[in-house]
This record gives sequence, structure tokens and C-alpha cells, in this order.
Amino acid sequence: MNWFISAVSSSVGKKIMMALTGLFLCSFLVVHLIGNLQLLKLDLGLSFNTYAQFMSHNPVIQTISKGNFAIILAHALIALFLTRQNASARPIGYQVKKGSANSTWSSRNMGLLGTILLVFIAVHLYHFWWQVHYGGTIPMREYTDDHGNLVSFTDLYAAVMFAFSNPYIVAFYVFSMIAMGYHLYHGFASAFQSLGLNHVKYNGLIRAVGFLFYFVIPAAYASIPLIIFFR
Ligand code: HEM
Repeated sequence: MNWFISAVSSSVGKKIMMALTGLFLCSFLVVHLIGNLQLLKLDLGLSFNTYAQFMSHNPVIQTISKGNFAIILAHALIALFLTRQNASARPIGYQVKKGSANSTWSSRNMGLLGTILLVFIAVHLYHFWWQVHYGGTIPMREYTDDHGNLVSFTDLYAAVMFAFSNPYIVAFYVFSMIAMGYHLYHGFASAFQSLGLNHVKYNGLIRAVGFLFYFVIPAAYASIPLIIFFR
């Protein structure tokens, strides 16, 4: 346990923890996107509601979900500690502060982008996750399955459709996904640097997978509320 405490108290240890938690959250984004793309199927929500019911009743998924919340919190808290540690290590600051000379806009605004994402996650969880698990406001919907049996699911699909009929909510999602893209533009590559994996041999691959995370995935997420709104 001592090795763990001294690892997370050092600046390098914190950077490694940021990298590991960040990459875990990237893997969550892929799984979550695949599930959410079912919202675009024109089947009155049968696929999406079946998927949501499975995810919220499977004990293994529910355990991973609790871990996921802990990792989101850990990622945000370590970022806060790291920022404070860096600020107190350089209390006076540099005389010439021309950040753009050797860094990108994303890398200089990771705290701001991360805060936007944290606000997004809080609002997003309240909208859907909280309503499913604790709100009790989402009605049930009945479907006939492939064998002709009547099945009944919480109609989360209808709740999402309702939310994305509001242009302010759609704009909030699109804005947040742009912030997520910029956050991952720096964050994804930086995680590999923190883990010491930025070897010239892998840099091409890291850049290609990075493009998937900073552009393709945020664009796919943003397209869901937009498609639902304009459909
Ligand atoms: C169009 C975009 C998105 C849609 C339609 C969507 C939809 C949903 C829905 C319906 C739930 C509730 C599922 C349930 O409890 O059964 C949920 C949960 C969640 N969403 Fe999203 N989501 C989107 C984007 C995102 C993004 C970009 C993030 C992270 C940055 C995110 C993070 C989460 C988390 C952490 C949960 C809780 C999952 C759990 O129970 O473990 N979502 N989302």
C-alpha cells in the first residue's frame, strides 16, 4: 500500500494515473457509443430499450458501472491535485508567457475542457441515468418479441427522444462533444507520453487511433441528438 501512496503523491505517479484512468474512460466511450447508436434504429425503441434493460440489470455490468463512476471521479480529482502541485512548484510564473509558441490550444486548456465535460456528465446523468434508477418518471412500454410473447421495458428510448426534441439540449450536447474532441486531441496522445509509449515506432498508430477518439467518436456522439432532432 505504501508504494501506491508514494506513487500517487509524486507528479509522475499522478500523470500515470491520469493516463490509465483516461484510457479506461476512452474504452467506455466506445462501448457507450455502440449502445447509443441503437437509438437511431427505426424500431420504436425495441433494440435500445432491450439493450438498456440488459445493461441496468446485469450484475457484472452494474459492478463495472460503479468502477466507472469511481474512475471518472479519480481522473477529475488527480487532475485537480496535479494542477495545484504544478502551480505551487512555480509560484511566480514565467515572465514571457507566449503559450502558443510550443503548445496547442487544447493542451493549455485541458482544465477548462475537463470542467465542461464534468458539467456535461453531471447534467447527462441527471437526465437519463438518475431518472432510470431513482427518478421513477419513465413509463414502461410493451413490445411483442420474435416468439410472439409480450415483453415490457422501461421506455428510456422515449425519454431520450423527448430530451433531443429540445434545441437547447441538442446544442448543449453538440457543444460538449466539441469540448470532448478538443480534450481528447491532447489527452489521448499525452496519455501514451505519460506511460512512456511514445516511441517513433508506435507514433503513427497512436496518431491514427487518436483521430478516432478526438474526431470520429465525438462526431458520432454529436450526430445522435442532431439526427433525432432533425428527423
Ligand atoms: C448522444 C450522446 C449520448 C447519449 C444519447 C447517451 C445516453 C445515455 C443513457 C440513456 C444513459 C442511461 C443508461 C442507463 O442507466 O440505463 C447514459 C448513461 C451514462 N452516460 Fe451517456 N449518452 C451519451 C453520451 C455520453 C458521453 C459523451 C459520456 C461521457 C463523456 C456519457 C457518460 C455516461 C455515463 C458515465 C453514464 C452512466 C453509465 C452507467 O450506468 O454506468 N454519455 N447515457
